[in-house]
Amino acid sequence: MAQDSRVAIFPGSFDPLTNGHLDLIERSARLFDRVIVAVLTNTSKQPMFPVKARLAMLSEVFKGRASIEVDTFRGLLVDYARTKGARVVVRGIRGVTDFEGETQMAHMNRRLDADLETVFLAPSASHAYISSRLVREIATLGGSLAGLVPPAVARRLAAARRPSNLRRV
Ligand code: PNS
Repeated sequence: MAQDSRVAIFPGSFDPLTNGHLDLIERSARLFDRVIVAVLTNTSKQPMFPVKARLAMLSEVFKGRASIEVDTFRGLLVDYARTKGARVVVRGIRGVTDFEGETQMAHMNRRLDADLETVFLAPSASHAYISSRLVREIATLGGSLAGLVPPAVARRLAAARRPSNLRRV
């Protein structure tokens, strides 16, 4: 498929989606005609939520948003981007700690496909400290998630916390 600079991929693990991701996806949707939020399925990490549940949360959050599509991918991001005709990958940079890993990934992706550009966006300062890892930790330890995740995610995290549901998130 021909690569289109108006189509962007926003890839990630989204385990779970946070308000920081949401901020960046909304910014992406203002810059591109179509944004594909793509969940990596072949991660070696042990996830809190199975891919199916992550997709369900994303689909609920972006329901009715014609320009935002939710999908999964496995294998190389550059191959997936090519199949979707996307010319741009969007990644967020919250601060210096993200910078090194993100630029390394951008350079490697460019080496794999020189036509695919990585665009970095900064979230609003009020979201710059949010990460899925900290959200999982706070949820597991029973802290407040107010303002950190969208309601569709908060509901599932609360359900996962109930002892009877611990094995069925
Ligand atoms: O939310 P994350 O975990 O920071 O997302 C990382 C992700 C999914 C963007 C990255 O691991 C990825 O693109 N994986 C696909 C495999 C791949 O293409 N690897 C080479 C890229 S350097």
